[in-house]
Amino acid sequence: MFIHWGLYSLPARHEWVQQHERLAHVNYRATYFDKFDADLYDPVSWVNHAKAAGMKYIVLTTKHHDGFCLWDTEFTDFNATNAPAGRDLVKSFVDACRDADIKVGFYFSLIDWRHPDFLIDSLHPLRGDKGAFLQNPTRDMGRYRQFVKGQIGELLTNYGKIDLIFFDYSYPGVQGKGRVEWDSEGILKLTRGLQPHIIINDRLDLHDYPDGWDYVTPEQFMPVSWPRRNGQFVPWETCQTFSGSWGYHRDEETWKTTNQLIAMLIETVSKGGNLLLNVGPTARGNFDERATNRLDAVGRWVRYHGKAIYGCTAAPEDFLKPGNTFLTYNPENNRLYVHLLQWPFKTLYLPGFKGRVEYIQFLHDASEVRFTSRTSSGPNDHMAITAAHDDLIVSLPVVKPNVEIPVLEIFLREDSESSMP
Ligand code: GLC
Repeated sequence: MFIHWGLYSLPARHEWVQQHERLAHVNYRATYFDKFDADLYDPVSWVNHAKAAGMKYIVLTTKHHDGFCLWDTEFTDFNATNAPAGRDLVKSFVDACRDADIKVGFYFSLIDWRHPDFLIDSLHPLRGDKGAFLQNPTRDMGRYRQFVKGQIGELLTNYGKIDLIFFDYSYPGVQGKGRVEWDSEGILKLTRGLQPHIIINDRLDLHDYPDGWDYVTPEQFMPVSWPRRNGQFVPWETCQTFSGSWGYHRDEETWKTTNQLIAMLIETVSKGGNLLLNVGPTARGNFDERATNRLDAVGRWVRYHGKAIYGCTAAPEDFLKPGNTFLTYNPENNRLYVHLLQWPFKTLYLPGFKGRVEYIQFLHDASEVRFTSRTSSGPNDHMAITAAHDDLIVSLPVVKPNVEIPVLEIFLREDSESSMP
């Protein structure tokens, strides 16, 4: 679970609201800071929602681009402790995760629209405002670099073991910007030094740097296949929203359906990745009903289909994927999972599977699914699927089982293990 929570949850018009509406920090602060009371904030309930939805780790925005910090930082008074919330919100979050055995991730914004030394670039809320430079003629990115490292130091020192850090932002198409502006190499060394086990995303833009990143982060985007770098498959995680915005957005109506979200999870695992699904809590600190309804529905599906997700990855390449399905595979027990996105009419053909399958059942209720195999009678055989014609014909009930996306669990024959990507 990704969680985007901050001052922008009050305007509830996207976490980039300050930028979209070109608000100077003083005005943004004057309007919202003294309203952030977080009276319904209960990290234990966040963690419970995440767990019930089947999630194993949570990544919280400790600070987003507006510079508002959820923790009690020494480096700015623009933090939750000085707002009506009046406490360190990161601390209780970390405690709740640990108590529930959920791994802890911190999102940290490398850009900071509050900081007087931060450059006014083309993405800054004050872009194009000529007077803005005059407000601080002695702007100094050197000081900014120290500030960023100071804050990262706090986060990685004061809260025990942190499992993952999600740095952001990475300017599209601008190579090496972060290296210069906020000293990505220095941040990397600091991070690995303070938390040697931590997992670091790829948004420090240190793509060709040794140990510069641990995984790649396609955002709001599903790769066509398992992402590679220099020809090698790499660990990856796609981060996705329920609707278009990361922060709580009251009037955003383009929410994904439960079916889309579950299919997204399956597709991600079928390509060897992880899904980081975002919730934007309200400024009061609770998850709204649109979010909890979806989390509950994902959880209902995962409860019966977790075996096709956890520990699973892409299927060996020599298993052909039937239409309207995704395949996942557990290398530990050599089981293959066929996720049926569209319910077929009575028969599912598994091309080239003949001789490789021992047993098939529905995953949700462990009920047997019977199958026969066949070999084609010749080139005009309308039932032949593959060139080898060694197909399995699986008999399905006419009526779709009452689960969002049914899954067939295929026990492969011991001798049919095949090459993994
Ligand atoms: C982007 C956006 C941001 C969001 C993030 C999530 O870089 O700037 O608002 O936090 O991606 O991946």
